[in-house]
Amino acid sequence: MTRLSSLFCLISLCFFTACESGSKSDNSKVKPSPKTGLNISEVNFGTTSDGPAKLYTFSNKNGMQVKLTNYGGIISSILAPDRDGQIADVVLGYDSLASYLAGSPYFGGTIGRYGNRIAKGKFKIDGIEYSIPINNEPNTLHGGNRGFDKRLWEAEMIKTETQVGVELTRTSADMEEGYPGNLQVTVRYLLNNANEISMEYLATTDKKTVVNLTNHCYFNLAGADSGTINNHELQIKASSFTPVDETLIPTGEIRSVEGTPFDFRQATAIGARLEVENEQLKFGGGYDHNFVLDRTSEKLELVASVYESTSGRLMEVLTQEPGLQFYGGNFLDGSNIGKGGKPYEFRTGFCLETQHFPDAPNQADFASTILEPGQTYQTKTVYRFTTK
Ligand code: GLA
Repeated sequence: MTRLSSLFCLISLCFFTACESGSKSDNSKVKPSPKTGLNISEVNFGTTSDGPAKLYTFSNKNGMQVKLTNYGGIISSILAPDRDGQIADVVLGYDSLASYLAGSPYFGGTIGRYGNRIAKGKFKIDGIEYSIPINNEPNTLHGGNRGFDKRLWEAEMIKTETQVGVELTRTSADMEEGYPGNLQVTVRYLLNNANEISMEYLATTDKKTVVNLTNHCYFNLAGADSGTINNHELQIKASSFTPVDETLIPTGEIRSVEGTPFDFRQATAIGARLEVENEQLKFGGGYDHNFVLDRTSEKLELVASVYESTSGRLMEVLTQEPGLQFYGGNFLDGSNIGKGGKPYEFRTGFCLETQHFPDAPNQADFASTILEPGQTYQTKTVYRFTTK
């Protein structure tokens, strides 16, 4: 256990000891915190084949609120203020567990063991070939048939003076979905009073394996049911991206964004260049590409921002990861009926998935995603919400 996780255990322990004397209603535990304005509560969310799921609601002093279930580590709602202090839910998702169980295009899910695609469901480690499920013909997408977004996680509430949220843990057993090694995973979703949601991922293994964890929130900063995201202005600090073939597997090339619709180094409306004749836009059905971030260190750095001018909401992305999958909601087609009974139409949500590059296990020139026994996979991403 790392020093950091011991600290969190200690904090969680103190927290729970403190909570036990608190008042409990039938189905919920609410712990108001007048001093910090950070609060968390828990309710039953329904039953999965692995057992009962919970829904956690945590909030800060600015009225920002996150809902997260330990089924799939799914963020189902993020309430964020606009420039006038009006609150709206800025992520796509469902009202009920049943809808998530019935099928979701990864709305808000915690993605693993491997985010994005692995070509033809195969990779080798030390000459041994592993086969993983092909769930996105002809490739594997987001872990396989039952990735981490479809598993029940152990959950513990965390509340400190500065942050509130949930720590999720699970063991992905050796050969689960075909990946080698028992992988112990911890993911912490925490909110602070600076309107930052941090996502911290940790993992260890007992056999050499591959790991690439991320979160798959679909954002619409005008509000989850307010139409297209094409007017959102996106900036990504990336001088290059990884072009793909027609099955969305990277070709291996690192291509400059200069003079292409993939140049988001200056803030540009998402939809401004979608109609440009471009093979990569054709293959992606729009934007569905990994951007190679211009980093100066391996520390948490600001790598992207999105601004929605009618609400004034600005979302900034900070990460330690080398890549960012910008997906423009090209597969949304109105067939997912979301919160409040609203269908999610074409390009009404976008994802900015921080990650190592897609198909890295088969691409010798991409940063390695191998995790070995004795190493700790540790990475952090922050989504910060402000207005202007
Ligand atoms: C990722 C992929 C997309 C799509 C979505 C989920 O962003 O890159 O191609 O599969 O997930 O629908």
